[in-house]
Amino acid sequence: MPTIRYTSADGDVREISATTGDSVMQTAVRNGVAGIVGECGGVLSCATCHVFVDAGDADRLPPVGELEDEMLDGTADDRRPTSRLSCQLVVSDELGDLHVTLPEAQE
Ligand code: FES
Repeated sequence: MPTIRYTSADGDVREISATTGDSVMQTAVRNGVAGIVGECGGVLSCATCHVFVDAGDADRLPPVGELEDEMLDGTADDRRPTSRLSCQLVVSDELGDLHVTLPEAQE
């Protein structure tokens, strides 16, 4: 079962065993990870699930989609090269463990 490690902007770490098929956003919300809101439920209309993916993990992820790319330009915290919307990152055994850092603000 893949593990998602969430590091808050303050440096607090939560490690959660994720269910395959769930998104990184759903995993966070279901487990009460502070700092990921997921207001739209994962339909790419809120950008409140913004995360910074660990540089070592970024290359393993599917590429940023066109709509995700547009939404990332409107995040509360400035976009970075490793920014992703966590509702678009689906947990799978092939992808394996992931580490994401949360921005200071989502809204
Ligand atoms: S949860 Fe709304 S864009 Fe990801």
